[in-house]
Amino acid sequence: MTLDDIRRIAVIGAGQMGSQIAMQAALHGYPVALQDVSAAQLDKALAGNRTQLDKRVAKGKLAAEDRDAALARLEPTSSLEAAAADADFVIEAVVEKLDEKREVFRRLDACAPPRAVLATNSSYIGNSQLAEVTSRPGKVVNMHFFFPPLVMRLVEVVKGEKTSDETVDLTAALARRMGREPVVLRKELPGFLVNRILRAIQTEAYFLLENGVATFADIDRAAELGLNFPLGPFKLADFSGLDIGYYSRLDRYKQTGNPADLPPQALRVRVERGDLGRKTGRGFYDYSSDPPSPVGES
Ligand SMILES: NC(=O)c1ccc[n+]([C@@H]2O[C@H](COP(=O)([O-])OP(=O)(O)OC[C@H]3O[C@@H](n4cnc5c(N)ncnc54)[C@H](O)[C@@H]3O)[C@@H](O)[C@H]2O)c1
Repeated sequence: MTLDDIRRIAVIGAGQMGSQIAMQAALHGYPVALQDVSAAQLDKALAGNRTQLDKRVAKGKLAAEDRDAALARLEPTSSLEAAAADADFVIEAVVEKLDEKREVFRRLDACAPPRAVLATNSSYIGNSQLAEVTSRPGKVVNMHFFFPPLVMRLVEVVKGEKTSDETVDLTAALARRMGREPVVLRKELPGFLVNRILRAIQTEAYFLLENGVATFADIDRAAELGLNFPLGPFKLADFSGLDIGYYSRLDRYKQTGNPADLPPQALRVRVERGDLGRKTGRGFYDYSSDPPSPVGES
């Protein structure tokens, strides 16, 4: 399959990532089926995308007719089978839980056309763990966008144990056609490039916090003022969603059995409370005020 053979895209999961990945593809001319198990989430995704595009129109960066055309290319559905039935390229963006993703890939393999590439937007999970439940491992790949996908230019494309070179090249070409800049990882490694670097920073930040060296707000300030980071590690964790870091650490722990890989206590208590960061209005910081205020001291 060549880039021009990709005529329809399906995005599975219409959360923070899937909604905007679908929008980015639609802005670049693709009809996109956007599927989620939650009808309320689909409504939220469409409303959020409209707001983003309205802002561009107001700033003169997008013509109103191009906004309307792009929004009209989004086809929301609650049926995974309907979304994938005639897709040439599927991007999975459901919650970061291995079992859930494997189930989605099993179903996609059964209902997507044999020519279709099945890509995952997972932040940490290598595609081989998903490819093995399909009959098309050569067509399974990581296509990892960054939050928020309507803004962030990078896409990591990861070649798994069985991913074909053709699939890697096609995925990178699609990323470019969607206005994004791909980097290719020739080896599969959990967390890929950016999140491995990020994890090293966050691991140190949690170490400092849990050993009582400084408050999370001061650790953030130190990284912002001393390293010129646009966001400190705890603000960034809130921005991405605390559940993402939590589940990825749990999965890693399940693989290694190493207690050092368990989610830090400061992360666990917040996720258990349902404080998942910006998306729930509260995480390390409370987003009901502007600027957001730190919640507690540790
Ligand atoms: N948030 C980030 O910064 C970020 C960045 C890059 C990649 N990712 C990855 O993208 C994926 C999605 O993350 P998110 O932040 O959008 O999460 P999210 O919680 O905002 O969205 C996940 C969506 O998937 C839906 N869903 C769950 N199970 C489903 C199923 N079986 N079929 C269809 N829909 C289902 C949920 O209803 C929800 O709307 C994860 O794998 C995550 O690791 C996240």
